[in-house]
Amino acid sequence: MTSIAFIGAGRLGATLATALSRRGLPVCAIASRTPDSARRAAAGLPGCAAVGAAQAAQAQLVFLTVPDDEIGPLAARLSWRAGQRVVHCSGATEVAVLEPAARSGALIGGFHPLQIFSDPTRAIELLAGSTVAIEGPPALEAELRGLADLLQMRSLVLPAGARALYHGGASFAASFLLSMLQEAAAIWGSFGIDEGVALQAMLPLARGTLDAAAAKGLAGALAGPVSRGDVGVVARHLSALERLSPQHAAFYRELTRRQLLLARASGRLQEQRLTALEELLTVGATPTGT
Ligand SMILES: NC(=O)c1ccc[n+]([C@@H]2O[C@H](COP(=O)([O-])OP(=O)(O)OC[C@H]3O[C@@H](n4cnc5c(N)ncnc54)[C@H](OP(=O)(O)O)[C@@H]3O)[C@@H](O)[C@H]2O)c1
Repeated sequence: MTSIAFIGAGRLGATLATALSRRGLPVCAIASRTPDSARRAAAGLPGCAAVGAAQAAQAQLVFLTVPDDEIGPLAARLSWRAGQRVVHCSGATEVAVLEPAARSGALIGGFHPLQIFSDPTRAIELLAGSTVAIEGPPALEAELRGLADLLQMRSLVLPAGARALYHGGASFAASFLLSMLQEAAAIWGSFGIDEGVALQAMLPLARGTLDAAAAKGLAGALAGPVSRGDVGVVARHLSALERLSPQHAAFYRELTRRQLLLARASGRLQEQRLTALEELLTVGATPTGT
């Protein structure tokens, strides 16, 4: 069976090493900048040793799970051989950064789990059902798909050169959700609700919205005043937000404009209502719903 090593015993490296080892794969070596990090990650994994990076780089399949800026320099510093597979787990960094390994005859690729790795116990639970973006030549792509299957993850094959758009786009489904909640909490804060109370109230709403999207797709899940063509309600929102601050109003305007795309796609609204909403959202138009 292919020997597997990790270089970089951080949040992702330690989690993935544990998950693969639990599925019976021979994770034989873990290296890290700090030997203690490697020892902690290797402890409890059968047949796995904490080693130096040069030794870990001798495994048949080597994951470079270091911070993105470190991947290229590390790949350039270590020695590789033909037939090895060298893979990074970054979403945003191109696989070409591993070129020094390819020049020695190794196959190079990407294996980016589209999930958050902060608390290791929770991260392992989240792997099953999550997607992993895979990139590499056919033989390596097949091998990485096999790992994804073993972890019960869905595979998404990325074309070369698409990673910045892939990762930038995914931000909207990840950390930008936090910015949405921050905006909501800031607006509620203006009438005295603190962030903890706002989150308690809004997280079930956010989860309900995501569940609806999973069940009905984006356009089908759309609810709220735009979905009903309630121009008066949108006008009242806008005029209150304008009084609060032009920045809040501008953000609301832009998002509501994007919602019109979903409202149109849902086919539920008459053209007349859509036009009235569009006019209301035009910068310079005065909301009348005060
Ligand atoms: N965390 C996530 O949610 C997530 C999700 C998807 C993809 N990723 C990707 O996974 C990769 C790792 O991210 P992470 O969040 O796991 O980072 P992290 O928690 O900061 O861990 C990085 C690890 O690499 C070690 N390290 C740093 N420089 C090194 C070097 N030159 N040589 C050897 N080891 C080195 C660190 O040092 P010590 O040994 O001193 O501890 C640390 O253990 C990144 O490419 C990231 O884009 C992360």
